[in-house]
Amino acid sequence: MSSPNLDKNPDRSKREKRVKRISIVNSFVCRVEPRISTFSLVLTAAIFVFAFPVARAQQSSDTPPASNAQNGKKLFVADGCYECHGREGQGATQTGAPRIGPPQLSFDGFQSYVRKPMNQMPPYTGKAIPDQDLADIYAFLKSIPMPPKGKDIPLLNK
Ligand code: HEC
Repeated sequence: MSSPNLDKNPDRSKREKRVKRISIVNSFVCRVEPRISTFSLVLTAAIFVFAFPVARAQQSSDTPPASNAQNGKKLFVADGCYECHGREGQGATQTGAPRIGPPQLSFDGFQSYVRKPMNQMPPYTGKAIPDQDLADIYAFLKSIPMPPKGKDIPLLNK
């Protein structure tokens, strides 16, 4: 039995409507929710499946495929890199080629630059220098130490 007192309350019908609306929304959410959780499960799985190889690829970009720095040193001369970049990859003002020993780029960046340079440098296709040779060249360049800073040269600190 409804009490006439409450029925007369002007707020009551508003409140009832609100409650009804909320329960409609609730039942909708309840129907949709199983689908949402399946979806988020699939999404989480997808993130795991796709993110891990990416993370691995990013890690490996600094360590090129099994490489041989000794062979890379020979290739650096044989393939003509030294003509512009200098024998130790130190760069040369005459050619405008920057220091690339040691390389500041990741192996991926290095590889894509050599394949498609932006300015003066000529491009080297995979036929001219196979990926493996490029990995060896990269390993050679990585083995070159950075030049010491002035303050680290004993002669200059006398
Ligand atoms: C004809 C001259 C020339 C030769 C040969 C040459 N380079 Fe270059 N390289 C350049 C110049 C000049 C640049 C500066 C950017 C530009 O103009 O493309 C450069 C830039 C680069 C860069 C980008 C450096 C950076 O930190 O942005 C890499 C990496 C590189 N060279 C690698 C090589 C390798 C490896 C070889 C041999 C396979 C080679 N280059 C042969 C002239 C040369």
